[in-house]
Amino acid sequence: MQNLRYVGKNLFLERVSIQNFLKKNKTPFYIYSENQIVSNYLNFVKTFKKTNPLICFAAKSNSNTNILRILGKLGAGADVVSGGELLKALKAGIKPKKIVFSGVGKSEDELKIAINKKILLINCESESEAKLVNKLAKNLRKKISIGFRLNPNVDAKTHKNISTGKADNKFGLSIKNFKSFLREINKFKNIKLEALSVHIGSQILNDGPFKKTLNVMNKLIKELKLNLKYVDLGGGFGINYSDNEKPINLNNYSKLVNNFATKLNCKIIFEPGRSIIGNTGLLISKVQFIKKGDNKNFIILDAGMNDFMRPALYDAFHKIIPITKNSSKMKSAIEFVGPICESTCKFGVYRKYQKLIENDFVAITNVGAYGSSLSSNYNTRPLIAEILINKNKFKYIRKKQNLQKLINS
Ligand code: LLP
Repeated sequence: MQNLRYVGKNLFLERVSIQNFLKKNKTPFYIYSENQIVSNYLNFVKTFKKTNPLICFAAKSNSNTNILRILGKLGAGADVVSGGELLKALKAGIKPKKIVFSGVGKSEDELKIAINKKILLINCESESEAKLVNKLAKNLRKKISIGFRLNPNVDAKTHKNISTGKADNKFGLSIKNFKSFLREINKFKNIKLEALSVHIGSQILNDGPFKKTLNVMNKLIKELKLNLKYVDLGGGFGINYSDNEKPINLNNYSKLVNNFATKLNCKIIFEPGRSIIGNTGLLISKVQFIKKGDNKNFIILDAGMNDFMRPALYDAFHKIIPITKNSSKMKSAIEFVGPICESTCKFGVYRKYQKLIENDFVAITNVGAYGSSLSSNYNTRPLIAEILINKNKFKYIRKKQNLQKLINS
């Protein structure tokens, strides 16, 4: 995260000192660097410059309307997975012709919104869904462009809970079933197959699985002599959460994608989420209490697993750094935990950590993707604020949810 650095002992995001910021702003909250968002997006554009794909930001990774608006202004479209995300993307000013809709269980209401708003593609994930789209389109006297999401049966070699491209996963249609549906597709007069899509998983750090998937698609499209307007290659590009990980290098893959697109004469769509937004955000939290344990001390933060689920869900590592550095050390090992009444409400163990006392502040890093968007009201806790930094300015892009409203709802 290039926009995060210490100046002397103090942590700065862009030109804002977090310590100063904390004098007037209550924790916990998410804070993002606009500059980092823009530079991540432009880097992605640059990597695939030759191909000039439509980049549909995966709104599920962070669906804050202000963030969608920043990306939309840079030219991004959106990949949505619900009626809510679809309406948010439109509210953020993203044009319907830049929106693709994925998901295995789209409801009739959601599909009607997608049809009425004339989005670019509904990526169907089953024969039943395609038939339902056909029926709804017929009732509305429309002909709808659809894509089919295929399950290429490729192992993404990532955490099992975020792997989506194997035959055992519920996502996409198997190639066998796609072929058999293709034989009867002409019966369905209100849909038109314009695209194939794939998404094999998330936080993929090696380009091998992507290359494999591209081969599967290439072979299939040639074999079936499909004339497609779009091929949607999904997202999944990994970032480095720890210092010994390397973010994926896409240079080689981008050349293959370019060859693929030129030969098939189709427009490429990508659906990146994490690689655009993951390293742009911090979760700032206060040390509420410190409690001595037999083997380690518990640093009890005011942020909980309801605010940030990734460690509880995937055992994910997110480095926790102090807002103000010092040169003393804690005497024993520590574990950062949150207040929620669940044993999985914990954020990491450190053998050696600088001295922390109650009311100090820390930042949980790289939480821009699947941080706020995965948060919940568990334990009847209000959703926390989200703040956007731009150079030395800040803006609340979501206020903390009102407790009274939450109680009344
Ligand atoms: N397209 C589709 C159809 C997807 O299902 C996803 C993510 C993406 C694109 C974006 O993938 P990305 O570029 O962000 O890897 N909550 C998990 C990640 C779940 C990913 C779900 N699908 C986590 O925190 O690691």
